[in-house]
Amino acid sequence: MNILLTGGTGYIGSHTAVVLANAGHSVVLLDNFCNSNQSVSARINQITNQTLVCIEGDVRDTDLLINTLKKFKTEAVVHFAGLKAVGESAQEPLSYFDNNVAGSISLLEAMKKTNVRTIVFSSSATVYGKPQYLPYDEVHPLNPINPYGRTKLQVEEILQDVAKSDYSWRIALLRYFNPVGAHVSGMIGEDPRGTPNNLMPYIMRVAAGALPHLNIFGDDYDTRDGTGERDYIHVMDLAEGHLAALNYLTQHSGCEIFNLGTGIPVSVLELIHEFEVASQGTIPTEVVARRAGDLPIYFASANKAKSLMDWSAKRDLTDICKSSWNWQKFRGSLDD
Ligand code: NAD
Ligand code: WQD
Repeated sequence: MNILLTGGTGYIGSHTAVVLANAGHSVVLLDNFCNSNQSVSARINQITNQTLVCIEGDVRDTDLLINTLKKFKTEAVVHFAGLKAVGESAQEPLSYFDNNVAGSISLLEAMKKTNVRTIVFSSSATVYGKPQYLPYDEVHPLNPINPYGRTKLQVEEILQDVAKSDYSWRIALLRYFNPVGAHVSGMIGEDPRGTPNNLMPYIMRVAAGALPHLNIFGDDYDTRDGTGERDYIHVMDLAEGHLAALNYLTQHSGCEIFNLGTGIPVSVLELIHEFEVASQGTIPTEVVARRAGDLPIYFASANKAKSLMDWSAKRDLTDICKSSWNWQKFRGSLDD
């Protein structure tokens, strides 16, 4: 299949590009590089031993999208492009609604005009908000508590209405839990600009000596060891979830929602411990106050993805930490 990946040089997009290209699909990447590096596409090419087309452009440029969809005879789109920093979304809400919501509308307009009717959308577990029960399943009530989460919910709603308006659409909404880890080659991975906001990239920087210690945001939660628990999913498992979704959509029209998680909650202390084992080092830590807006614990029910798409996460915490550490070491050797 000819597949366009918006945000294709980003963290999840780059790993999905590898999985789709290795599965025999023809993959085109489109990215405005606002949160990624041009050199990523060359590294994807090295890993896959293929030459993927990589276009510099913005999803809000509808004409560029129309031309791209036509030029590459696109049959499906995986839509990763967007902004994702929760704290920044509260400071810059307009930028988030413009990139994430207006960007998605622009893409859908272009797809409609070019008769491309298959799309996989990167949504997030953040759409659920405070758990009314756990694990979250796909019918759990939705109540995102920050602008970023609301952009994701709005796009989900738009896509559901689009699917109802015309039964030829084939749409998968994938709600990712906490993506971590890197490709086994260590040549691609998460590469946040500046000081990381999220746990795993922060641990990696501390392990590399670039940051002095990790702040643990609270150890007095009502959880197994008092620290926050999350459903950390290996990015390669997540990438394979996109392949499964595209396969599913070849057989099904309409709009379907899938959680992509492991179903296993892991605490901050457990992740630190696993990383110390993988990196054979010590992560200095300091317990500080809880971070505003953090939930004590959440994790996925991944049953629906298993039963409808025959997808489940295969990699464990050791794979996650080893691959992250490999990537951190490789990243340090790059000069961009
Ligand atoms: P990322 O920032 O690494 O990748 C997003 C890519 O999109 C970047 O390469 C960026 O340059 C590009 N981009 C942003 N705005 C664009 C625009 N207007 N036009 C073209 N390109 C644009 O993020 P990621 O972690 O790979 O996330 C991918 C998607 O998954 C995002 O939509 C994100 O909201 C969603 N998601 C991520 C997580 C996570 O924790 N990483 C969790 C749930 C959902
Ligand atoms: C994980 C745990 C923190 C940093 C975010 C977004 C969510 C989704 C995934 C996009 C929590 C603790 C963290 C640190 C810490 N993204 N922590 N010290 O907040 O679960 O989810 O990424 O859709 O929308 O909110 O991930 O990695 O920031 O935090 O103690 O320096 O680690 O309190 O318990 P989070 P995270």
